[in-house]
Amino acid sequence: MNPLPNLADHDSVRAAFPGLRDGIYLNVGTYGIMPEPALTAFLALVEEYETFGLFCSSDIGQKVEATRETVAALLSCSATAIAFTGNATDGTNLVLAGLTWRAGDEVIITNEEHEAIVHPLLYLQCKRQIRIHRVSVSPDADVMRARCAAVASPRTRLLAFSHVTCESGTRLPAAAMCEWAAENRILSLVDGAQSLGVIPTQVRDLGCDFYTGNGHKWLLGPKGTGIFYAAPDALQQLSPAHVGAGSLEVADFASGTADLWSSGRRFEYGTRATTLIAGLDCSIGWLARLGWEQIETHIRHLSSYLKARIQERPYLRLLTPPAFDHAAGLTTFAMEGWEAGELSRELMRRAGMCVRVIPHYNGIRIATACFNNEADIDTLLAILDAIADS
Ligand SMILES: Cc1ncc(COP(=O)(O)O)c(C=O)c1O
Repeated sequence: MNPLPNLADHDSVRAAFPGLRDGIYLNVGTYGIMPEPALTAFLALVEEYETFGLFCSSDIGQKVEATRETVAALLSCSATAIAFTGNATDGTNLVLAGLTWRAGDEVIITNEEHEAIVHPLLYLQCKRQIRIHRVSVSPDADVMRARCAAVASPRTRLLAFSHVTCESGTRLPAAAMCEWAAENRILSLVDGAQSLGVIPTQVRDLGCDFYTGNGHKWLLGPKGTGIFYAAPDALQQLSPAHVGAGSLEVADFASGTADLWSSGRRFEYGTRATTLIAGLDCSIGWLARLGWEQIETHIRHLSSYLKARIQERPYLRLLTPPAFDHAAGLTTFAMEGWEAGELSRELMRRAGMCVRVIPHYNGIRIATACFNNEADIDTLLAILDAIADS
């Protein structure tokens, strides 16, 4: 039997990721990889459920509810506030499609939002003639409040932004921004795709109306798992564009009644990917055993180590705020004289190293996860040094 993973004995953590034998994985910010024990439990459940269907001895519905409790504990909210979706983008769409828009309504986002926010908004702009304002990112709360205030108007309905941006990896002052939005009667949506599983995320402390995240990045869960939170008052403002079996608390054909559940269940209709959700619980459980604080400390250490090494090299330009409290697990840099796509292919060719290209900055993004170590970073820097010298 494998020893219980323990960050103090890092080899025991790495042993849970057989894929690491084939290369250096520095891209959890795009797709996580599942810890083997969680994957084994998840696959066993898929096999059982898909083999035996309703004869299956596991109660899959109960497992979904257990996952909901797990996620609610992670976000420090009530389980009734959580809806499971397929990805983080689904959460954006639940908000945008659930609100009633009039031509001329306005939304504020930042200049570093993922397509998960930008594309649904662009579509809404075409369909409903809303206006989108973009403000530049800064980790400074006063700066972000001032930038939002400078573009806000009485028509501003929503402030939507990433807790940690996917390009420079900047940690935005989410609580201050949500507080500013609430003071101005503007709804707030936080995209936690690059923060959930890295830094503590208590939605009550964030003060957001809506929060969307996914299971497949830093939570190391299966692809196709998304998490959506709506604060109780905000939830009542969403009128789902889609409903079906499971969304309604009261459905009566004779009287024409269709009352939605007052919980996140209103968004969960039809047959769902229940085994994926149960699989997410396996991954979160594995991470929880490592300890969330320990994981954060490990990621803090590795990203600080990486940033220090980048700053020592004049041919590299750090694009992420140096302080961990102004960023999280993502570090982006540019290399003088190199096109980032070409550089990433070179890293793959020389060391089987998987990184992410950030075209906007011609940068390379490194995600330092719980299973990465200093040796991964040393290898990266040794290759960059060799390329710079050649
Ligand atoms: C900040 C951010 N939001 C959203 C997404 C997309 O998430 P999903 O594919 O789960 O919709 C990503 C993916 O890279 C991201 O970095």
